Amino acid sequence: MNLNKLIDSLSLEEKLGQLFQFHTSFIIKTSADLTGPDTTFGIDKKYIYRGGSVLSFKGANEMIETQRVYLEHSENKIPLLFMHNVVNGHKTIYPIPLAMGASFNPELLEECSAMAAKESIASGVHVTFAPMLDLVRDARWGRVMESTGEDPYLNSVMAKSFTDGFHVSYKGQKVAVCLKHFAAYGAAEAGRDYNLTDMSEHTLRSYYLPAYKASIDAGAEMVMSSFNTINGIPASANTWILNDILRDEYKFDGIVISDYNAIRELINHGYCQNEKDAAEKAIGCNVDIEMMSATYIKHAKELIEEGKIKEAQIDKMVMRVLKLKEKLGLFKNPYSKANAEDEKRLFCSKKHREIARRAAEESCVLLKNNGALPLSKQEKIALIGPFINSGETLGHWRSLGDSKDTVTLYDGILKHTYKRNILADTACSFIVEDTDDSGFKEAIKKMKRADKIVLAIGEHQMYSGEGRSRAKIILPENHIRLCKEAKKLGKPTIAVIYTGRPLELSEVSELCDSILLVWQPGTEGGNAIANLLYGKANPCGKLTMSFPHSTAQLPIYYNHLSTGRPKKEGDELPSHPSLMPFTSMYEDVKNEPLYPFGFGLSYSEFKLSNLKLSADRMARDDKITVSIEVENCGKYDGKEVIELYLRDRFASVVRPVKELRGFKKIFLKAGEKQTVTFEINEEMLKFYNNKMQFVSENGDFDIMVSNGVCELKDEFKLI
Ligand code: GLC
Repeated sequence: MNLNKLIDSLSLEEKLGQLFQFHTSFIIKTSADLTGPDTTFGIDKKYIYRGGSVLSFKGANEMIETQRVYLEHSENKIPLLFMHNVVNGHKTIYPIPLAMGASFNPELLEECSAMAAKESIASGVHVTFAPMLDLVRDARWGRVMESTGEDPYLNSVMAKSFTDGFHVSYKGQKVAVCLKHFAAYGAAEAGRDYNLTDMSEHTLRSYYLPAYKASIDAGAEMVMSSFNTINGIPASANTWILNDILRDEYKFDGIVISDYNAIRELINHGYCQNEKDAAEKAIGCNVDIEMMSATYIKHAKELIEEGKIKEAQIDKMVMRVLKLKEKLGLFKNPYSKANAEDEKRLFCSKKHREIARRAAEESCVLLKNNGALPLSKQEKIALIGPFINSGETLGHWRSLGDSKDTVTLYDGILKHTYKRNILADTACSFIVEDTDDSGFKEAIKKMKRADKIVLAIGEHQMYSGEGRSRAKIILPENHIRLCKEAKKLGKPTIAVIYTGRPLELSEVSELCDSILLVWQPGTEGGNAIANLLYGKANPCGKLTMSFPHSTAQLPIYYNHLSTGRPKKEGDELPSHPSLMPFTSMYEDVKNEPLYPFGFGLSYSEFKLSNLKLSADRMARDDKITVSIEVENCGKYDGKEVIELYLRDRFASVVRPVKELRGFKKIFLKAGEKQTVTFEINEEMLKFYNNKMQFVSENGDFDIMVSNGVCELKDEFKLI
């Protein structure tokens, strides 16, 4: 296809149509979710049949029908691109990305993304609005569930896995990747969605940009510009972010698409006077596709006539869109591999469920265990709480995922013990404000008859995700009361915590003997959690986002700076305000999180010993080999994550007290020992100095190797 010729054959109106994206419901009747405010565009219906792409649709039949109706009415017969939010699965849903990050298993994440891609291709999805690569530090923000956490290195490793996985070829078709939200949307002030972000270039480059860059380097075809302002200028019209950094520095020549109505929202921000102004600024920033607003269609012609933009600029933008359509084979086959029969074969297939189950097993985090876990078949358990029979554990972005396909916790447990050994009761709802405890009486009776109590409690999937900011990251009061009732009975109590974000778990930790954090575990959640509860699988997840004692500590993250008066060992909360030390700490809450980044327990006990460095100094062109012995001293086989951290003690820009620079996930049989090695090179020591140069500086470095439970330290010099 000669795309230059094709562009030359198009009228300006047809070109502008290619830059317009709207919901499929403007073409066919669909119940596909609206992922933003319902809206109209104020344009003639004919533009719908000049559009370039659509978003959100329910599978192959809708894709085929939408494309057919569109092409029937289209003059130039250029097929639509079909885009969809496939974030943690398409029909077979695996755990939310914050959970997948906790698996510390990039290969598993790639396998899951590849599974999602195959199911998406069968539905005719051309572009997925994923991965979401916004670094997060504030659990009040509902979209932390979509991220892989607070560390730029881990997020970058996972960004590549997401991208590579989604790029799997299936029946000769691929799904294009649209990374989001560029940029730094996760730094929304006060954790309130769509709020401003404001940070130094140093912070932006050191923490928030690396994961986006990793996905671009892995071949992401599209970047979504975000809703937020960055230092006072909305990202979707921010030339520094979109032109200087993304296009010029990162050499990204793919498509930039605005987030939903974000271009029209430049007016709400107070950055643009009107839609015409918004169109001019966004076009100037090379935002190629306008999602769910039509300022380009309405005003670009006038802007060209006024000499404010050139038609050549529009041609460049249209070329980027047509190149992607050509790359995805649309000109050869507008329906790609959309096939309802293929969907049936792939959706929730045995193989796909097995992948989703392994992902859920590896992403759950054992936060506490006083020996109440694992359970045994003979034990009678009281299975109590609103999640015991719930399928609504797929997360906010569940694409075609259906809660009816979910294996519930009750169903999963029934595969491990006798029905008579499960005394089940939902007891109360998952609504945070609900104080109705009329179900407690029956539930407590069951608790009294049981050997152990399993509480399935936490945050429902619709309390996190887009537009779901919370000022208090707490469990419903009734869920805490269930823990208290169990505590009164003095029986081993296990809390199974469902959530899309870090929550305040201090009370749960005091009241329960064991805590298994299961996030939103997806379609196979019940099987995975039951396998973990009964020891058929051994928990191995590690947190990638700090869990605070209190919401008041937010934002909280492990790779923080020291300050000039760091809290010293022994600086505990004073008994009297007059005793407050002059150090960086609160009078009323600890500095440290309740559960830190990298933390997670196992049924085994892994002992780390013999940390060795091949040298105590390193030249720039050299490297140091780090080795450590890991022994599984427990009686369960299990996986363990070994984490490598560095600290640059002194530099021209102060450096964090620790930074993750490597990790390895190993498997050890009970009693087995293994030596794990890492390589340190100069690249790992680099940082942005105050001239924004990415450099290393001579000096002293601490090295820490940890499994999130115990940590060994050493040091070396860069010379
Ligand atoms: C939403 C989200 C974005 C999503 C897009 C399309 O507003 O911010 O993540 O991909 O709209 O649904």
